[in-house]
Amino acid sequence: MLSALVFPVPRDLMLPLPLPEMLLKILLVLFFLAHILFINLVVGGSLWTLIFEWLGLKHPRYDRLAKEIAATITVNKSLAVVLGVGPLLCISLVYTHAFYTANVLTAHAWWSLVPTITVAFLLTYLHKYTWDTWTGPRKIRHVALGFVCALFFLLIPFVFLSNINLMLFPEHWTEVKGFLSSLKIGNVFPRYFHFFAACNAATGLFLVAWLGRRSFPVEQKLPEFTRPEIKRIFYTLVFGFTAMQFVFGPVLFFTLPTRALTVGVWILIWTGAVLALGLLHMLYKEMRSPDAVIGKWFWPITGLFSVIVLLMGTGRHLYREAAVYPLMEKMMRRTEEFRALERGVQMRLAAGLTAGGDRSGPPTGRSVFFQNCASCHVPGTKRVGPPLEEIHSLYKGNPAAIVAWAKTPGKKRADYQQMPSMAHVGDAGLKLAADYLLEVGAGKTTFSEEEERPEKK
Ligand code: HEC
Repeated sequence: MLSALVFPVPRDLMLPLPLPEMLLKILLVLFFLAHILFINLVVGGSLWTLIFEWLGLKHPRYDRLAKEIAATITVNKSLAVVLGVGPLLCISLVYTHAFYTANVLTAHAWWSLVPTITVAFLLTYLHKYTWDTWTGPRKIRHVALGFVCALFFLLIPFVFLSNINLMLFPEHWTEVKGFLSSLKIGNVFPRYFHFFAACNAATGLFLVAWLGRRSFPVEQKLPEFTRPEIKRIFYTLVFGFTAMQFVFGPVLFFTLPTRALTVGVWILIWTGAVLALGLLHMLYKEMRSPDAVIGKWFWPITGLFSVIVLLMGTGRHLYREAAVYPLMEKMMRRTEEFRALERGVQMRLAAGLTAGGDRSGPPTGRSVFFQNCASCHVPGTKRVGPPLEEIHSLYKGNPAAIVAWAKTPGKKRADYQQMPSMAHVGDAGLKLAADYLLEVGAGKTTFSEEEERPEKK
């Protein structure tokens, strides 16, 4: 089924990687998870800043809570950006052609990220530093600014996500006419909802730790709250959004194009899902435990949360691997063919022959042979490759075996170089050449080089 896929294969050649491929892929998954964690905290943080600030219009205590959350966003966004360099470098090394093709196909949206992110960051600082000055009648303007920031942070990942999604589906590349049309491919929206819920769950857990930590002076900074109360609020968020993943998760999974759904992906994702049930149970107990002990389960919860994230992240990677495999395989084959051609030309030139080139006219055994083989194989004498009589004695009545050899030649004779692969000629052409070769080798056809090779006169 995979081999039946037709898609445009970029014309580039694969270059050797600077590090072992496996290592790069492991780094990609780990760097990506570190990066996405902070992205989650920025997206979730800006959203909950907005919600609590808005609630704060009526109940001032939420305004102070919102301000504390806002203070974390700028640091988290700096970490997210810096940690984004790692996965970006890894992905452009390992999946160069798929990744850059997707970038080019959605180029306008992709480039617009630079000004958009710049503006979003500047507005976030403005929002943070005007908290105590845009008050009274200007407060509403401040909330509106928070709304714009949250909107930016919800939109930016959407562009990234649709781009990464597009690289998985080379069979749709020819249909894509920019960003909007790329949204129709694969399952961008279920992916986004899954991401969105993950942002809120991760942010909730982070805020339990950050605002619930012992060294945080709750009495001073958030006098209308108690520490257990804060923990309970954010645990409830984690619980709610983790529960939502039991809807978003399966929707994502079952809308995923099945082409790349391997057994490995199934196992990882569903193990993660089962563990998430355990997580939900732990969160529920934690939320409902009395003030004196709430927070006792924080580390087991965080541990389990991390394991689930790692399973899902690895499953996501395996899906990508299987999805881009046909493309990578075709690129690899093309690179091999090019190298073989290059080696062939070098061998011919080294033997004092012409490099050879294309000729027109319908292919015959003779023309294919002269174009592709005659520079190295002639009757009666060794010329780079063994003479035709020798090949005839080895392959009499078996042209198919010549075709097979010519596609993937081995290294046989010690006193010869290795023959380059002729796979680019194609099976049909090779069959014609093989028949012709055997006829000449058997002495049934005369072999006149001059007629076909005018440049040698
Ligand atoms: C660039 C030179 C070169 C070209 C072009 C070339 N060959 Fe060869 N070929 C060789 C060399 C060198 C060997 C010997 C390799 C060895 O024994 O390791 C060889 C060996 C062979 C053999 C013998 C395999 C065996 O089992 O001993 C066959 C058959 C053959 N070539 C067919 C072809 C056909 C068909 C083409 C054209 C489609 C072709 N070759 C084009 C260099 C060439």
